[in-house]
Amino acid sequence: MERLIDDFIGKRKEDGLLRELKPASMRSGGKIEFSKRVLADFSSNDYLGLSGHPLLIEASKNAAEKFGISSCGSRLLSGNLSLHEELEEKTAKFKNKEAAIVFNSGYQANVGIIGALYSQGDCIFADRLIHASLLDGIILSGAKLFRFLHNDCNHLESLLKKERGKFKNCLIVTESLFSMDGDKAPLTKLVALKNKYAAWLYVDEAHATGIYGSDGAGLVQANRLESEVDLIMGTFSKGLGSFGAYLAASKRTVTYLVNTCRSFIYSTSLPPTVIAANLASLDLVKKEPQRRIKLLENAQYLRQKLADKGWKIKGESQIIPLIIGENQQAVSYSQALQNRGYWVLPIRPPTVPKGQARLRFSLTYDHPKEILSKLNDDLQKIKI
Ligand SMILES: Cc1ncc(COP(=O)(O)O)c(C=O)c1O
Repeated sequence: MERLIDDFIGKRKEDGLLRELKPASMRSGGKIEFSKRVLADFSSNDYLGLSGHPLLIEASKNAAEKFGISSCGSRLLSGNLSLHEELEEKTAKFKNKEAAIVFNSGYQANVGIIGALYSQGDCIFADRLIHASLLDGIILSGAKLFRFLHNDCNHLESLLKKERGKFKNCLIVTESLFSMDGDKAPLTKLVALKNKYAAWLYVDEAHATGIYGSDGAGLVQANRLESEVDLIMGTFSKGLGSFGAYLAASKRTVTYLVNTCRSFIYSTSLPPTVIAANLASLDLVKKEPQRRIKLLENAQYLRQKLADKGWKIKGESQIIPLIIGENQQAVSYSQALQNRGYWVLPIRPPTVPKGQARLRFSLTYDHPKEILSKLNDDLQKIKI
């Protein structure tokens, strides 16, 4: 085993792919501190800048005083507080679905839900760029997986035409806003295909929740497709500035999952402090649309500046991937930006395809335009 570990580390180092953890001593207001140095943080998913909001902190404090720190059990034992049910009701309303079920993380939701609903003899058609947690859920389910080219409904339909008839149940899986490319799924077309081929549609709204739609519910809401998308999954851990995840679906589906979903059943439920913060965050997202409006305006501003300078950028959202290509070059750019005061990390394979290593600028409400303008200027000065 030791030899295997040494060989792995050696190879990863050689390929410029060895990842190392670095502890931050502070992270707030769009800034992060490492070794007494404060940098502008372009790597967090705190898109709306809610993680340090006084109302979330107050809600957490109150819940800790009332219920203690832990929920002390799984939901089916003593870990089911009134707060959990309140959050599920509120989430269902927010997402305009009959019911919702809360999970401990987006990873646990995706891994658990798909395996609880689908199994051998079923088929799942998934976008090539879906998140690892979705892929792991599909693999665990035992259903036959077909991957379609990213956002390519023609390719998806050709696969459905050829394969759908050979299987029992069928699921189409996508993210609504892709985390590494910052682009949006063609949801209306996917709904048409799922209806035509008798499938269900699973949409992961992790990066769209809080940012898009009239109430900030996400891209399913923005496209008015709530009644058409069977399974709307999302997280509280990104735009909502907190932690945990949910699935919004029909009441029967939620009841089925409460009884069968292993990642829901066999884990201590989220602590009251987190649930209370999630409740406060849902209120804030509705009440403060200016956060998402400013975020998207700023994202457009930086995108335009980078494009004007000839950088290759992808997508159309608050996530701005700047494609570099080679792993080592991406690492060098990231290092040079860190030296100039920006915390921007290189994203490399296997997270993204080979040859598409990139810098991923994750914008938040806490980044003023001046920082974005300075970032653009500084980027031009770097010579690799
Ligand atoms: C699309 C997508 N789904 C799910 C997850 C997992 O969510 P969590 O961080 O809450 O486990 C992530 C987070 O990285 C994600 O990007």
